[in-house]
Amino acid sequence: MSPEMANTTYRRNHFFLLLLIGFISSVSSDELEFLLNLKTALAESDTKVFDSWRSDNSVCNFTGITCDDSGSSVKEIDLSHQNLAGSIPFDSICQLQSLEKLAFGFNYLNGSVTEDLNKCSKLTYLDLGNNIFSGPIPDISSMNGLLYLYVNNSGFSGTFPWSSLENMTKLVVLSIGDNLFDQTPFPKQVLKLLNLNWLYMANCSIGGEIPAGIGDLKELINFEISSNYITGEIPKEISKLVKLWMLQLWANNLTGTLPVGLRNLTNLQFFDASTNYLEGDLSEIRYLNKLKSLQLFENELSGEIPPELGEFKQLVNLSLYRNQLTGKLPPQLGSLSDFNFIDVSENFLSGQIPPNMCKNGKMTELLILQNNFTGEIPASYSDCKTLTRFRVSNNMLSGVVPSGIWGLPNAEIIDIATNDLEGGITSDIANAKTLAQIFATHNRLSGELPPEISKATSLNMIDLSHNQFSGKVPATIGELTQLTSLHFDNNKFSGEIPKSLHSCASLTDINMAYNSFSGQIPAALGWLPTLNSLNLSCNQLSGQIPSSLSSPRLSLLDLSHNKLAGAIPESLSIEAYNGSFAGNPGLCSQKVSYFRRCSSDSRGTSSVLRTAITCFSIASAIVLVFLAYFCYLKNKNQKDDQSRSLKEDSWNVKSFHVLGFVEDDILDSIKEQNLIGKGGSGQVYRASLKNGVELAVKHIRNSDSVHRKRKHSGKQDSSEFDTEVETLSSIRHVNVVKLYCSITSEESNLLVYEYLPNGSLWDRLHTSKKLGLDWETRYGIAVGAAKGLEYLHHGCEKPVIHRDVKSSNILLDEHLKPRIADFGLAKIVQTDSTHGSTHVIAGTHGYIAPEYGYTYKVNEKSDVYSFGVVLMELVTGKKPMESEYGENKDIVYWVCSKLKNKETVLSLVDSSIPDLYKEDTIKVLKIAILCTSRLPALRPTMRTVVKMLEEAEPCKLVSIIITKDDDGKKKNDKILF
Ligand SMILES: *[C@@H]1O[C@H](CO)[C@@H](O)[C@H](O)[C@H]1NC(C)=O
Ligand SMILES: *[C@@H]1O[C@H](CO)[C@@H](O)[C@H](O)[C@H]1NC(C)=O
Ligand SMILES: *[C@@H]1O[C@H](CO)[C@@H](O)[C@H](O)[C@H]1NC(C)=O
Repeated sequence: MSPEMANTTYRRNHFFLLLLIGFISSVSSDELEFLLNLKTALAESDTKVFDSWRSDNSVCNFTGITCDDSGSSVKEIDLSHQNLAGSIPFDSICQLQSLEKLAFGFNYLNGSVTEDLNKCSKLTYLDLGNNIFSGPIPDISSMNGLLYLYVNNSGFSGTFPWSSLENMTKLVVLSIGDNLFDQTPFPKQVLKLLNLNWLYMANCSIGGEIPAGIGDLKELINFEISSNYITGEIPKEISKLVKLWMLQLWANNLTGTLPVGLRNLTNLQFFDASTNYLEGDLSEIRYLNKLKSLQLFENELSGEIPPELGEFKQLVNLSLYRNQLTGKLPPQLGSLSDFNFIDVSENFLSGQIPPNMCKNGKMTELLILQNNFTGEIPASYSDCKTLTRFRVSNNMLSGVVPSGIWGLPNAEIIDIATNDLEGGITSDIANAKTLAQIFATHNRLSGELPPEISKATSLNMIDLSHNQFSGKVPATIGELTQLTSLHFDNNKFSGEIPKSLHSCASLTDINMAYNSFSGQIPAALGWLPTLNSLNLSCNQLSGQIPSSLSSPRLSLLDLSHNKLAGAIPESLSIEAYNGSFAGNPGLCSQKVSYFRRCSSDSRGTSSVLRTAITCFSIASAIVLVFLAYFCYLKNKNQKDDQSRSLKEDSWNVKSFHVLGFVEDDILDSIKEQNLIGKGGSGQVYRASLKNGVELAVKHIRNSDSVHRKRKHSGKQDSSEFDTEVETLSSIRHVNVVKLYCSITSEESNLLVYEYLPNGSLWDRLHTSKKLGLDWETRYGIAVGAAKGLEYLHHGCEKPVIHRDVKSSNILLDEHLKPRIADFGLAKIVQTDSTHGSTHVIAGTHGYIAPEYGYTYKVNEKSDVYSFGVVLMELVTGKKPMESEYGENKDIVYWVCSKLKNKETVLSLVDSSIPDLYKEDTIKVLKIAILCTSRLPALRPTMRTVVKMLEEAEPCKLVSIIITKDDDGKKKNDKILF
């Protein structure tokens, strides 16, 4: 080439180069603009990630941005886990020409994902997962280079764009589960994605069978399709997936056997096919020796557990309950691994309990209830300090219970009921500081109860019935202040019934029948504020029936077959109680002919009793423990001075606001005519002060424990209750009821709250005080209550877990704006909060999250479940439990059973809500379904719930028409516009 030509070429190249540079820099300034658009769109986020996103900075230097090698154009945007909120402007972002990675996972991004997303055609990585988007996922068929696609758990609905996957053959990760997609058969496009490693399709409405073609996805390491509507058998072709590490098939309708060839999956570490209809035996499992977790509970599996499981070196979790398995557990089970958990309950297993499951000191739960196990409880479990749950009931175990079992330092429940076990409860029990429940009924246990039992201060249920215990019940038993249920019946106990039981202020159920107790019935038993059932029949008890027992609260009172004498208290002297007092020849009655008439002598006694009863019937207006004090109050005028000094002595007012009322105003309001509610934790009274202010006063029942603690441990501990109340009273939120102060006495506690005139949501939805709440109002209540709970969970220094979220704890002010009530109560009531999780089941039937059943762990997600139930009440207008759901079925079950098609879903909505709002109600129903997910981890946080609810706001236009119409006649007429 001539020099001239060369020069020309050079010039031309130079020209092109200049042009190119100009082009690049113009792209860069566009890129800046696109990114600043994104920053603006997400301006409401609470994040610092955008601090570096300034026009005076280089785009490639923005946090979360990576540029290509030339350092001039944006290649990756990674803003995962940045607390982002708002809607992504895909029209702008997808103009970034070199964009290959877009990662927005784990944020609070909302709104719909527009068709513009498809313009991001060079993407290899797209993560929109774990957000709160709405609407469907658009067509993404341009993204044929995609390797990673995450859209899981992000609020998407409609139909997934399956056909977009057709040419996405490079895909390695496809994660689309936990979305509310329309039901669809297993998508055939997925079977062509031969490079897939990771396929997550759990909980996204997939029906039909798993196709044989699944066997072509030979690179799969993880395959999850749990919680769908899968039917048919597990295809035998699954055995070709030899790289599988995790296989999750649980909660479907799978039938048939574990397929022959499953044994080839020798890399499998996590296998869960629980809650299906699988049958046949476990012989294919025996080769899967890398298993860490095997969960096949709730199936119809039979045959024996392969002995090879005892040789698995990594097995930590074996959960096979509710099947029809027979034979023995492998004797060496768990001995070679850090074995942690076994639940093989409700099978037909026999033989001995394998002795070495806790060999590595890691075991937390040993659950083998309801089988045919024989032999002794291996002594090795005495040293298993990690055990929290030891449940071996309903077997045929024999021999002496190893004494160390009683002293396991972390045990929460010891359940050895209905076996053939011997020995006694040993003094080791002093170490069982976390033990909440002992179930030992129907064994041959004997000996005296050791006084050390009173050191196991977390105990709330003790059932020792149908054994051979003897001697006196330790007088210190009253130190078990958390006790709710005490069953000592059908033993050989003697001596007096300990008076100290009156300190167990939570006792609801006492059964001491069929023993040899003697002496008088302690009158204090009748003062137990929540006692519901008292059975002292078939003992040697003598003396009179204490008048304190005449309270009508008892649903069961049985004092029959004792040696009681004297007049039956007047209010119990009715035919209905005949059986309760039978077999006591010394008893007499003026009214009931079944008993002999009282002589004039005993009539004297009876009139003394009558005075006591009058006093009590005043007192029944009051909480019983106030009795002495209020009887006193009656005479206030005569003995004013004395009364005042009693008041000053007895009550300690903790006030946190300038109160504007005095304790007397509050105390005087505690009477029956002011009673406005009864709840699990106490009665609520309305107090109208002289200055016209109204307050609500709640009495907490088991205050005895607080008081006791105080007495024993001095000043330092005494402040625990106060601190708790102080924390709660410092909570300020428009959707949380204000706590003004607490009034504490030696015997009881009052909490003073603001008074809300419109009662509870429960009343307004379900009772005679029902209002025809329109959807806008219901929606307002849902959002407000959600914000209140969000504040309790996320807005306070430490999260406040409510533990009893329900519509009767959502109160309404004069404008029907909601406020959360009774928050944190469970914690106050249960003063021993040394442990993170609580043993007492707080909560109300129909609202209780399923995890309570097996773990008793309470956290924020349990509140989220209960809130989901409240949302269901708002949408359907139904109660959490109704007979139409079927026996033992609740609203969550009922709603889920109607998610078949649009028609059945719409049929769930309260018929009083006009059609126009039906779509809006369905949005809220979807949130309710998410909140009530079976697995706590799948439930959104309250923060997310609030965001999702805000997205579900009813159409604005409609609301304007309706508000405008306030002066008009019929709302329904105008809604038609
Ligand atoms: C990159 O950003 C940092 C922090 O914002 C800044 O200090 C630095 O000067 C920037 N570098 C360039 C090349 O813009
Ligand atoms: C996939 O590729 C084939 C062949 O090029 C083409 O006909 C088809 O339209 C593509 N599918 C999609 C969804 O792009
Ligand atoms: C799954 O099984 C249950 C109980 O037998 C049944 O009610 C339900 O309709 C089944 N679902 C499907 C998708 O087959």
